[in-house]
Amino acid sequence: MKKTEFFETAVQQGFYGQEKSGLYGKKDNVRKYWEDISIKNSLRAKILNLINKKQKIKIADLGSGCGEGFELITHIPPANKTSTQKDFILNKNDIDLYLGLDISPSMVEMGNEIYKDHKNVVFKTADLSKDWTFLDYAQFDLYLSTYSSPSHLSVHELTLLVSRILEHSEKNTLLVLDLFGKYSPEWPQYWSKQKEELLTYNMSWLYLPQKPGADIIENYYVTFWGADDLKKIIEGIALQKKKTVKIEFIDRSIFVGRHIDTGIYNNHPQPIRYQVNRLFDRDYRGEPDKLKIDFSFLRDFETLNPDVYKRILMYGEDWNNTVKFLEALWKEDNNLIKEMIETSKEELSEEFKMLAWLERNASRFPVVDFWASIMGPQIACILRNLEINLPDGVGCGHGLVCLVEINS
Ligand SMILES: C[S@@+](CC[C@H](N)C(=O)[O-])C[C@H]1O[C@@H](n2cnc3c(N)ncnc32)[C@H](O)[C@@H]1O
Repeated sequence: MKKTEFFETAVQQGFYGQEKSGLYGKKDNVRKYWEDISIKNSLRAKILNLINKKQKIKIADLGSGCGEGFELITHIPPANKTSTQKDFILNKNDIDLYLGLDISPSMVEMGNEIYKDHKNVVFKTADLSKDWTFLDYAQFDLYLSTYSSPSHLSVHELTLLVSRILEHSEKNTLLVLDLFGKYSPEWPQYWSKQKEELLTYNMSWLYLPQKPGADIIENYYVTFWGADDLKKIIEGIALQKKKTVKIEFIDRSIFVGRHIDTGIYNNHPQPIRYQVNRLFDRDYRGEPDKLKIDFSFLRDFETLNPDVYKRILMYGEDWNNTVKFLEALWKEDNNLIKEMIETSKEELSEEFKMLAWLERNASRFPVVDFWASIMGPQIACILRNLEINLPDGVGCGHGLVCLVEINS
């Protein structure tokens, strides 16, 4: 072997080169450490419930891409260390069949290529507005969707899809619909639209930090959902099909939705997702002044949905107080630290006590930069957990996750 031969091969195989940062892009830090966690957290108990009843389960992924949902559900850790010896509650070989259905032949081709060594993983091309390919199989235990795939269907098409699933399913089945939330602060202009309307969306956030020209941006039409409208539709179908269902909703990414930063749909760009991406990154310190949110422009839309507005306002207040506390720690403003611990509501006060403890014990952490490596990620987790702990979702996040347990 020549002196350089090993390294030549290593470079060619992609082991060297620049590492992708988590500050921007499809799989940025918020996707990995906030959005994926929110989904995993909401699915954990329900998946355990499925696998406790069966040795192996069958999954149909609706709008599967090339298998992101498969990776997500096979990487859900147990809730506590004593509950199981396994790293993840559902392993790849606990799955009898994973059927990924997607309208895009390229996604299907890539999925089949990635998982060619997994006999239990199959991708097929299907337009879910009319091809209900899952009907060719015995019923599935989990009908999954991740990252807004079913929002590509109209209200009528989604209603048909859910009807087919309810007909196909037996008891102990879980249906997960991950949709765009209609009442996100990203697009208040959509709050007043009829539920039947398909509205424009684009993924211009993929180009950040550049601002792409209009010639590059591709717009397409999707449906945005409020929890009440979707609940009525599913309950109507369940009644018709004589099925018993339990429905829950989760709001995901209320202030860190992709278009909070672009401001394309609200004309108020605020790079909050970028700032939270920095917090999660262990090399960057938080920038408290840029982390504070200002959604006062939403006041004009309050009457369209007062409940949604109230929720956004309350979460916004908790968010900004957390950032204010970070600032107080940063500036060593001990009076403010004490006052905020003593006067904040219990959940926040507990978090603030923990942050103050961390700061007092900074020297115990063997890191180069305590503020970047310890405090930043901790603050990001508090902001995230405030959202995860909100009551039943209403549709005020970028994503609205609907969990339907089909019990008979
Ligand atoms: C935002 S991607 C999400 C992909 C993947 N589930 C994930 O978590 O990343 C939306 C996916 O829905 C697919 N899709 C759009 N319309 C569809 C339809 N009518 N039937 C089936 N799949 C569709 C797209 O091809 C795309 O792969």
